[in-house]
Amino acid sequence: MKKGYLFVLEGIDGTGKTTLAGMLARRLSEEGYAVELTREPSDSVWGRRIRESFLGHVRLDLQEECRLFGLDREAHVAEVIAPALKNGKLVVCDRYYFSTMAYQGARGANVEEIQMQNERIAPIPDRVFYLQLAPEKALKRIQELRGDVPNNFESLEYLRKVAAIFDAMDFPFFRRINADRPLAAILQDLLCEVRLCLE
Ligand code: TMP
Repeated sequence: MKKGYLFVLEGIDGTGKTTLAGMLARRLSEEGYAVELTREPSDSVWGRRIRESFLGHVRLDLQEECRLFGLDREAHVAEVIAPALKNGKLVVCDRYYFSTMAYQGARGANVEEIQMQNERIAPIPDRVFYLQLAPEKALKRIQELRGDVPNNFESLEYLRKVAAIFDAMDFPFFRRINADRPLAAILQDLLCEVRLCLE
């Protein structure tokens, strides 16, 4: 069966993930590949509900947050990721279940359990590009460059815990990318890794 490839960008907030996912997808499209650029939380009804919750002052409780991210992932895989892979596309996904492991894990959820649950419902990616940046710098970027007020996912103490879980991940498909560099340099690394994977 013809199969596509799943490339995931991960990292704490403020690492340039979304910008880089867009740049990577555009470059690959220009090179003639059929590309599906997508993100999580996705545009499913569950993903929209999660994004709405970001606007409130009170964060969802951990159980509800895990439930919604799980439902969103199932919908995202069924409606977007699996069909694109089946059609032989290169899927570029801005966040995936490693974010659930890191972010909900940092709130106290069992990281291994989240991994096992997700591996039952979600395809294992071909590559995960972990954009690594010190939480202090990431938060500074959010505040200064984006002009944003950090939301309740973005306190320094919390991001440190999230980063520690990402840092400890050790999968054969995991690639650590130094995100403390200009976007163009990071993009070159991503393209290089993608080409190696496609060879
Ligand atoms: P974004 O800023 O990349 O759009 O992501 C929104 C927030 O959602 C981000 O702070 C991380 C969080 N998140 C989780 O907590 N768990 C998850 O499984 C995913 C995909 C995102």
